[in-house]
Parts: sequence; structure tokens; C-alpha cells
Amino acid sequence: MPQFAFRKQSPTAADVAVVAVFAAKSDDAPVLGADAAALDKPLKISLSDELTHLGFKGDAGQTARIPTRGRATAPTLLVVGLGEDPDVHALRKAGAAVARAAAKGPDVAVVIPGDLLTGEADAVKRAEAVVEGATLGAYTYTAHKTKTPEERNLGEVVLLAGAGADANAVKGAIKRPETIARAVCLARDLVNEPPAFKRPPALADRVASLAKASGLKAKIHDEKALEQGGFGGIVGVGQGSSAPPRLVELTYAPARAKTHVVLAGKGITFDTGGVSLKPTSGMTTMKMDMAGAATVFAAAIAVAELGIKVKVTVLLALAENMPSGTAIRVSDVLTHRNGTTSEVMNTDAEGRLVLADALAYGAESSPDALIDVATLTGAQIVALGSRVAALMGSDDDLLAAIEHAAGAVGESVWRLPLPKEYREHLDSEVADLKNTGKGREAGTIAGGLFLKEFTGDRPWAHLDIAGPAFDESGNGPLQGKGATGMGVRTLVEYIDGLAR
Ligand code: BES
Ligand code: ZN
Ligand code: ZN
Repeated sequence: MPQFAFRKQSPTAADVAVVAVFAAKSDDAPVLGADAAALDKPLKISLSDELTHLGFKGDAGQTARIPTRGRATAPTLLVVGLGEDPDVHALRKAGAAVARAAAKGPDVAVVIPGDLLTGEADAVKRAEAVVEGATLGAYTYTAHKTKTPEERNLGEVVLLAGAGADANAVKGAIKRPETIARAVCLARDLVNEPPAFKRPPALADRVASLAKASGLKAKIHDEKALEQGGFGGIVGVGQGSSAPPRLVELTYAPARAKTHVVLAGKGITFDTGGVSLKPTSGMTTMKMDMAGAATVFAAAIAVAELGIKVKVTVLLALAENMPSGTAIRVSDVLTHRNGTTSEVMNTDAEGRLVLADALAYGAESSPDALIDVATLTGAQIVALGSRVAALMGSDDDLLAAIEHAAGAVGESVWRLPLPKEYREHLDSEVADLKNTGKGREAGTIAGGLFLKEFTGDRPWAHLDIAGPAFDESGNGPLQGKGATGMGVRTLVEYIDGLAR
């Protein structure tokens, strides 16, 4: 992970390997801001001409390298495109492009622009976007690489205040985005971890010790406690595995908190489908089926490290969904924490079974908001694809606040309805509910409607991140292939908004 520092220096004097400036795009040509334009004289070039010759138009994520030929301390000038009408989100993505283009490092200086962006974004917001983008863009998962790739050596990112950007604002804007982006990377690490290394007991221990290190209280409900506590969904889903399930309960309770939020996460450490076995092709990415748990966990870590004055309880419903002689069968009936029974018509619809218990348990403490995050349905990917999460819930104000938070941090969520008419899709012949809906109809909504039954009278929101949690393309602006950490930044922003 890169380290950040602020220096009061001119771009030509910055003692680094690469100095980066940004350029927007207009009418198929780059638009240079004041910082780039000011380089013509000291570098004795026309930067516009150089960029034209290189075919650089200022497209989002496009980069151009210009040798400074001894006329600046840094041997290389990097120009990074922001695209047309760039806003602070474009700057965040460009920050990620800087980290990738300068990955060989060992260091890079980034000139925080005071111009170029449309909309309202002060120097704090701009510097935050660059720090966040650079940290996210620099991320790679190397835990199991025996050789660190040579092209990954970015050590320090130096922020320079550009023309019109307040230096003190830039200097003070490092810690918050760094904390948040590191939490996103933590979620990514957990999701990218191979499933054998994060079976429920091991993952529970790991997150509990990380949580304690960040000042949270941690309680692990083991399989006996879950059985005794009536967590039939978590026990049922976990019973096919030789590694028993866990419910991890983390609490961050700062003094003078006026609001209490419960965050519940789906934590299936590997989803084979159970006896309703997935085909091989459907299983390849299923180590990511604990992304909801990783997301809410990482969000709480960031909230605690930032000292946000909101009480947060995190519930991680951890189980490994395996087929075996002890696994739940199709048509088995489970009794959940709130007494509701469910008939398991498909053991691959396991996420709602474990979350049902976590939500019911979370509702018992009467929080002001109850939010769950889950890679719940393949249908979410059909409906909204791999960049947009599905948002559902029971409280308009809560959903609006989450939409607002997502918009503020540049994550994409879209609301789906939970129509009462569809509740009958979940009617069971023998239990209160069945865990599947009406065939291929409204699968994501069916998941949401199932969970709603366990939320009591609490304001509740459900984020289905099946698509956006894991990037198989490698084309994402803020990450490479693998876990994205989608949802962490939205949750932190939402919770921070409650304290403001
Ligand atoms: N973990 C899957 C959902 C999923 C699929 C997440 C693809 C990410 C990528 C979930 O447990 C599941 O299998 N859901 C079933 C539900 C169905 C049986 C009602 C699905 O979506 O097919
Ligand atoms: Zn499943
Ligand atoms: Zn699953």
C-alpha cells in the first residue's frame, strides 16, 4: 500500500521518479489546467504539441509519459486524462490511473488541481479523491505470490498543491481517505483469500482480532451457542461442512453516540450450492460469497478508526455451504432466530437462510437502522450487471440516505421494489416460507422479500452486491481483477452522515 505525504514544492522541484498532472478532454483534444500549462517554460516544450504527437486526448484513464530531460528533478512527467466534464469521481479514477502508471515507483508526486473539475469540489475533496483512488488503484492481492512482481513497487505518493488548491487543505486531507481506502483493501484481501484459509472458525478468529486491534468489542457465537440460541438458518447451512459455522458480533460504541446502526453481512466462505450443487462454472468465483460480511466488517473498522460518533454493531453470518452426508436436504425445514420457519427448496439459496438469523438477532436490539449486505442472487447480475448493486428495503428515508451516500462516493446502487403481491412467491406448503421464489421471476426481489420477514419493525435496507463485489473483467477503473470492496465506502459515508 502506498504511503502519502504532503510537500510544499513546485512540480519541477519534486524529488521523485514521476510527477503527475491531470488533463481534461474537450472536442477530442486535451484541456490542460494551469499546472500543466505552467510546465512549458521550465521544460522548454509545448506540452500540448507533445501530447498531440503522442495521441493523448485526455480520455478518462489515458496516460502519457514525457521525459523531462534534466529540466525537472523528476525524470518523467506523467499526464493523466480525466475525460470530458470531469467531476471529483473522475479525479478519483484518474488517481487510480496514476498509481497504476507509476507502479514501478518508487515514488510519484501528484499535483492536486485547483481547476479542471466541473461542479463543487474544494481542495479537500480533490485531495481525498486522489488519495482514495491511488490506494485503490495500487491494490493487488499478493498474499500467495512467492515473488512480488517487479512492476509493483510504488512506495510513496507525494501530494503537491496545484495552482488554486489550498495547500493546508491538501495537507489535511490525507488521513480520512487513506483510512477508508485501506478498509476497502482489507475487505478485498478477505474476499480474495482462498476458501481453505477462511473457513468460518478461522475467519471468525481473524476478524475478531483485527476488530479488537481497531478498538471494537468482539464476540464469537460458536456452533453450540448458535444451536442453543435458535439460529437454525446458520446452523442448517453450516451443517454440511466439517468446519462449523460462526456468528461474529462486533461492537463499536463511542461515547455520546446518538444513533445505533446494525450491519449484517452474508459470510458464506465458499458456496458450492450444497446438495443443490452448482455446476463447475458457477462455482469458480464462490470464494467471494462472504463479500457482504467483508464489506460490513471493513466499514465498521473504518468507522471506528475515524472515530465517527455512531454506535455500530456488526453481525457476520459465517458458514461454508458444502454437500455432504450431514448437509441439509431439499425440503428440510429450519427454524430461525425469530421463530419463523423456512422450507429449503434449494440449498443454493443459502444466503437468505443465514442472514435471516442475523437480521432477526440484529432487530432484537431495536437499532435505528438495520442494513444487510450480501452476494445474494445471480438474478442481481442479470438485472443490473457487474457495476451496479441492487438496493431494497422497508424505509424510504433510509434508502434515500444510502442512495445519497453511494452517489457521494461514486458507488452505484439502484433501487428495486418489494411488492406485497410477490410475497406469495415465497409461500410454502409446510413452513412459514420457502427459500426460493417463482422460478426465474424477480429473483433478487424474492431474496429481499424473504429477508424482510426477519427485520421486525426496524427501518431496514438490503444491498445485493452479487455482481459488483467481484470483478472478473479487470476493466474496473478503481481495481484489477478480483474483489472490489464495493459497499464499504457507501456505508462509511452513510454512517458518517448520521453523525454530522
Ligand atoms: N451466492 C449465490 C449468488 C451469486 C451468484 C453471487 C453469482 C455471485 C455470483 C447464491 O447463494 C445463490 O446461489 N443464489 C441462487 C438463488 C436461487 C437458487 C433462488 C441463485 O441466484 O441462483
Ligand atoms: Zn448459493
Ligand atoms: Zn451464496
